[in-house]
Amino acid sequence: MKAFKPVRGMRDFLAEETSLMRFIEGKARKIAKIYGYKEVITPVVESYELLAAKIGEEMRSRMFVFKDLGGRDVALRPEFTASVARLIATTLRTEPRPLRIFSFGSVYRYDEPQKGRYREFWQSNYELMGSNMPEADVEILMLTNSLMESVGLKNYVFKIGHIGVLRGIFNQEGLGEKTQNAIMQLMDKKQYEEALKIVEDAGASKKCISTIQELVKLKGREVFTIAEKLRKLVEGYEKAVEAVKNFYEILRLIRESGCKMDVIVDAGFARGLEYYTGIIFEVYVPEFDIALGGGGRYDHLIELFGGEPTPAVGVAHGIDRIMLAMQMQKATVERTERAVMVIPVEEGLKGEALKISQMLRTADIPVEVEVMGRKVTKALEDADRRKMEYAIIVGGKELKEGAVVLRNLKRREQKTVKLEEIVNELKGHGD
Ligand code: HAM
Repeated sequence: MKAFKPVRGMRDFLAEETSLMRFIEGKARKIAKIYGYKEVITPVVESYELLAAKIGEEMRSRMFVFKDLGGRDVALRPEFTASVARLIATTLRTEPRPLRIFSFGSVYRYDEPQKGRYREFWQSNYELMGSNMPEADVEILMLTNSLMESVGLKNYVFKIGHIGVLRGIFNQEGLGEKTQNAIMQLMDKKQYEEALKIVEDAGASKKCISTIQELVKLKGREVFTIAEKLRKLVEGYEKAVEAVKNFYEILRLIRESGCKMDVIVDAGFARGLEYYTGIIFEVYVPEFDIALGGGGRYDHLIELFGGEPTPAVGVAHGIDRIMLAMQMQKATVERTERAVMVIPVEEGLKGEALKISQMLRTADIPVEVEVMGRKVTKALEDADRRKMEYAIIVGGKELKEGAVVLRNLKRREQKTVKLEEIVNELKGHGD
């Protein structure tokens, strides 16, 4: 048979990458815990109709869609939000609000593979459902900030916009939802000229066109000055003015929270997902021009799925991209494991080696036993090569005294240690 490779866009994670991914997963789970988000596990395969409902044209066309053997139209989830919204609209319908839900897992999009863009990738996802208050939006931003900080990333920036401002203008101009969605898709890709063309063709007023032309220029770190300019710019568009007020309130709460976040306001920022109704945001590091995470407020999705009207805000973090950013920034991962290799000096001591290894494992010390029948020198070389920290050499002479030789492979030092002291000796070392 031929040699198989993973399918295009799919990847194997070898041990080192897996350990980095699990490290981030651990941090994501810790954030969920300290912010009060309960984890749920939803299926990878969902009804196509559910997933496609408000995902936006671009992503809809990139879903892995198929018929199952029962003839149902299904797809691999391209995100978690639709699945969590389905839960809130059905099983969790009567749960007291707010609901804070966390999910972690793989998602699937038929994107063009390149660095940081895969067809199977991983997200940590947080949804805060039931509140339309700005403090809920700020909580989602703060927990994203906490995650970026806790994995050791530096100089990350939040780009924030407000889709309610754009929708407020377009609604008042009488633009239909489909037209608006097409405009947002183009704005998401920064194709402002093309977006404006659709606005014009849809019969929007001159005022609307000049407002949008000015609006896309409003961008920068002086967030309150920009919010003020935005407020003046959209005067006359009632819902847009309300949206700017909400935007302002969120920016104010970020400042008052004392949370050190580097924020850039970008009034012309749009995202491809169609369900957003309020603030939207993405996180970037300077080394990388694609987002490490993104989210925003979506107040109508749960109702669309037949649930009670439930305002909501959420975020998904792209774990694969966080891994790349950590590697680029050389962020260090704490390693707490102290792996030990147990080597019997001769055939007859294999049983003793197994017994000692078991004693160490009971004390939670990671142990590997020499299973290749190598002599001590070779076995030590191998332990070194595999970056073990210690070797325990089980020899007849020491065993008679109830002891073994403990070798620190990094320092290249060794000493004889009594069996009953070995666990303490290992646990006390290297702190
Ligand atoms: P999203 O912006 O589509 O939002 O995806 C979130 C993150 O997933 C992106 O910022 C990026 O880091 C990562 N990502 C997206 N596509 C790829 C890819 N092809 N390869 C690797 N990583 C990728 C959502 O998914 C929304 N559900 C977020 C949300 C939750 N909004 C409200 N609640």
